[in-house]
Amino acid sequence: MSLLSCVKTAVLIGVAAMAAPFCSAQTDFPRQAVCVACHGAQGKSDIKGVPSLAGQPKLFIENQLVLIREGVRDIPSMKGMLDGLTDDEVIVIAKYYAGLSLTEIPVDKDPELFAQGEKLAQGMRCGICHLPNYVGREQIPRLAGQRDDFLLHSLLQFKNGQATGRDSNMAASVIGVSDAELAALSYYLARIKP
Ligand code: HEC
Ligand code: HEC
Repeated sequence: MSLLSCVKTAVLIGVAAMAAPFCSAQTDFPRQAVCVACHGAQGKSDIKGVPSLAGQPKLFIENQLVLIREGVRDIPSMKGMLDGLTDDEVIVIAKYYAGLSLTEIPVDKDPELFAQGEKLAQGMRCGICHLPNYVGREQIPRLAGQRDDFLLHSLLQFKNGQATGRDSNMAASVIGVSDAELAALSYYLARIKP
């Protein structure tokens, strides 16, 4: 928000003191200050269980924001945060995150686990939907470089039927896969440079 629009906002609201939070917040997109607290600056999350959003396909982010806003995909820690967000604002947020790239990814410390994950991902043909380099497309998320704790959390949710409001294709993909194999897949995918 420009200084001028800050001042305008203050005048419109009629309470000068209320202008401060609007003016100090970064405003590349609506509700940025809220999102950044968990999803990180530049869309790279440093918090366990919280996904990085940088470089996710625009359509994937749009769909998820609508599902989360409508309460179809249940995310307790985001409860109420998208209330009143318009579809136009959803598009602005999705465009912003889709335009960022994830530069820092963890280094491989366990070549055996990495190789196991790679073999599993190929054998289970995850790349058919997520693309062979796992960058995702359209409504399908990028897995490459995502936090491994979040990948594992999601895979366990899909496997255990706890992925409320999420695509049923994924549940079908992980039937009969052991938790240890899901951990190897997550380890591998988190270490692929997107
Ligand atoms: C208190 C922490 C927190 C805040 C604040 C927060 N989120 Fe989230 N967000 C999460 C967590 C945790 C998940 C993953 C939950 C899960 O799948 O179990 C998530 C998931 C998402 C997803 C789905 C990503 C994926 O790969 O599945 C999107 C998109 C998203 N958040 C956008 C936002 C936006 C936009 C904002 C700001 C309006 C925001 N979040 C604020 C914690 C937060
Ligand atoms: C038939 C297509 C398809 C196949 C095959 C597939 N996926 Fe998915 N995957 C999806 C879709 C679609 C989503 C988005 C789910 C949603 O709507 O919430 C997804 C979501 C995910 C997510 C959640 C990521 C996030 O950011 O929320 C993970 C993790 C994942 N897939 C891992 C895998 C792995 C590992 C494999 C191989 C074992 C695999 N997928 C195979 C279609 C597929």
